Amino acid sequence: MKNFQLLIKLLLISLIINVHAVEQKPTILVTGGAGYIGSHTAFLMAQKGYNVIILDNNPTNFNVIRIWATIIEGDYADEAILHSLFSQYPIMAVMHFAGFIEVGESVKNQLSFYENNVSKTITLLKVMIEHDVKTFIFSSSAAVYGTPQRVPLTEDHPRDPINPYGKTKYVVEMMLEDVHQAHGINFVALRYFNAAGALPEYNLGERHNPETHVIPILLDAAHNKKPFKIFGIDYQTHDGTCVRDYLHVWDIAQAHYLSLEYLNNGGSSTFFNLGTGTGTSVHEMLKAVQQTTLSSLSIIFADRRAGDPAVLVADADAAHTVLGWNADNSSLDNILKSAYEFYVKNRN
Ligand code: UFG
Repeated sequence: MKNFQLLIKLLLISLIINVHAVEQKPTILVTGGAGYIGSHTAFLMAQKGYNVIILDNNPTNFNVIRIWATIIEGDYADEAILHSLFSQYPIMAVMHFAGFIEVGESVKNQLSFYENNVSKTITLLKVMIEHDVKTFIFSSSAAVYGTPQRVPLTEDHPRDPINPYGKTKYVVEMMLEDVHQAHGINFVALRYFNAAGALPEYNLGERHNPETHVIPILLDAAHNKKPFKIFGIDYQTHDGTCVRDYLHVWDIAQAHYLSLEYLNNGGSSTFFNLGTGTGTSVHEMLKAVQQTTLSSLSIIFADRRAGDPAVLVADADAAHTVLGWNADNSSLDNILKSAYEFYVKNRN
């Protein structure tokens, strides 16, 4: 009986210590934390016990995320908001997702991409330096590589972006190298290949407006019996359509968590590719979506979309080795089933 009481007491103490440890977890600021990749990552960080503050000017997902994060509605480069956040909360790191993301749009509206992705990041970094916040995780992109000289792409492949979107990511990567040298900001820049999939059970998924990404467009086409346009069938690939490396957004979230732990444990500033190493062509994706949705799609063969490289496939060995990261959730089947479930739940 005495032993049993002791056991209960020890269990209670360990519970109190654990709760206390969770309460002591530091605070992070997540710009763009209401967006697609940002919201999944912010959710994971909240699950890991971090205090998550989201700064975002797009309220689309606010209802879903306010359950587990503090939301500040506003522009991520609003200096008054930033100063007040860094003064008010003990923010130890910034995860920076906010920015424009569409490759095709960046070709048409280059300056707004430079303004939104580069100028505003300068403001964010300046305010961080003023407040002595030294840890930064950046959403970079496979688009920094441009047309690959070899695939799979390793991090030391030359950065030579072929569209303004990729150029904005490249500029920020260079800025980070400089502010690391000059101001001791430690960073990990994660070069995502193609984010996909959802967490339908938590009502998180892709809700872009307008939607330009291939999987949600295919799901919508399959569901509503609309034709699907393939942008280019004359690429130098095995079936003539573009090849991409699709990665579940939950795996991308895990890489952010691991990157923060890595920096907190003294890891040096660096860049990691995030991908599976497996390429899927647009045509193969179309066939896979037909299987998932049990429907058949009609196809329109359209011109190439400006700014699209033929093949982007990652070598993510560095992230495996250094961070202990794996793309465990990224089978095409899991990506499409989760994306489809989310689509069906949210199509209205
Ligand atoms: N595609 C079509 N029809 C469509 C939509 C897309 O054929 O209706 C094709 C595109 O031309 C491309 C492929 O599907 O070949 C994938 O296109 P997405 O728009 O889904 O994705 P992107 O590869 O253009 O871009 C994504 C992110 C970028 C990131 C890039 C890195 O949006 O932010 O992955 O690989 F830089």
